[in-house]
Amino acid sequence: MSKTLTLTRPDDWHLHLRDGEMLKAVLPETARHFARAIVMPNLVPPVVTSDDARAYRQRILAALPEGARFEPLMTLYLTDETDPDDVARAKAEGLIHAVKLYPAGATTNSASGVRSFDRIQPVLERMAEIGLPLCVHGEVTDADIDIFDREAVFIDRVLDPLRRRTQGLRVVMEHITTEGAVQYARSDTGGDLGATITTHHLVINRNHILAGGIRPHYYCLPVAKRESHRRALLEAATSGDARFFLGTDSAPHPDPDKLSACGCAGCFTATDTMAILAEVFETSDALDRLEGFASRHGPAFYRLPENDTRIVLRRGAPRRGGGTLDTGAGPVTIFDPGFDLHWQVET
Ligand code: NCD
Ligand code: ZN
Repeated sequence: MSKTLTLTRPDDWHLHLRDGEMLKAVLPETARHFARAIVMPNLVPPVVTSDDARAYRQRILAALPEGARFEPLMTLYLTDETDPDDVARAKAEGLIHAVKLYPAGATTNSASGVRSFDRIQPVLERMAEIGLPLCVHGEVTDADIDIFDREAVFIDRVLDPLRRRTQGLRVVMEHITTEGAVQYARSDTGGDLGATITTHHLVINRNHILAGGIRPHYYCLPVAKRESHRRALLEAATSGDARFFLGTDSAPHPDPDKLSACGCAGCFTATDTMAILAEVFETSDALDRLEGFASRHGPAFYRLPENDTRIVLRRGAPRRGGGTLDTGAGPVTIFDPGFDLHWQVET
């Protein structure tokens, strides 16, 4: 008899859906398994105002396959010009569920991110008042800080001071990659700090990117760190600690943009995320904790109900992950975890 695993339908608390032809092709990959996703606003140009978010939400709904049920949870891209009243109105009408902070220049399409922390303070204070979470891309961008240290330095120099001067602000440390970030998330006991962990950071370390040939499809930001950090993330994800939840950071780029002399950052993991996670949690003897990580801790942090439908995964014959998703914007390589997948989502 084959083994099955029934889970409350999961949500993705950090997702890049893009726009246009790319949106059309990647959205079904998420909507097939996930009920909701926190949708990243780093389009070109970015989703900055509530009007932008309303229009983008409509484009996402229009791109859904016939009969699909999926709820995009919109975010605004924080800039030095963000208007606190616009943010508050968008939250009050139920349109947005978070505001995203990209330090200017930190990652893909972050050129209009935050430059002056003084100027965004009134927005942060309003968000603290109304309980709207700030999703943080936690990397400094200083040229003299080593890329592998950028998350750790951000926590010390930016995140911790920001949280101290903005009492009550709810913060999600997005796509954490280090043991230090795990420890920092655990240092909060007030329920105002959460951390998302991606699928790929539970699977790869920096050797996967750089040893034995350079592998652009494993390059993302924040860049994967050494193995001890991957282990710390795995321990956090499988610990049952509700401060840690799934945000895939699935970030599609057409292959020519990845396989270039200056390749884009991002791993496209939407397609097989649940199968990969089942494999990873099973190997860690923690299959019973997968539902918490993928389906329960996120809604609890975002103060939303858990989904009332389920998915069933079945353990069967091994298959290889990876492959290519053809999109109207060009081929996109699907993340290959480098091990066989035994689990498959059935419904
Ligand atoms: C993301 C993208 O491509 O939009 N890339 C990535 O490597 N994660 C941006 C981001 O979340 O940093
Ligand atoms: Zn992202």
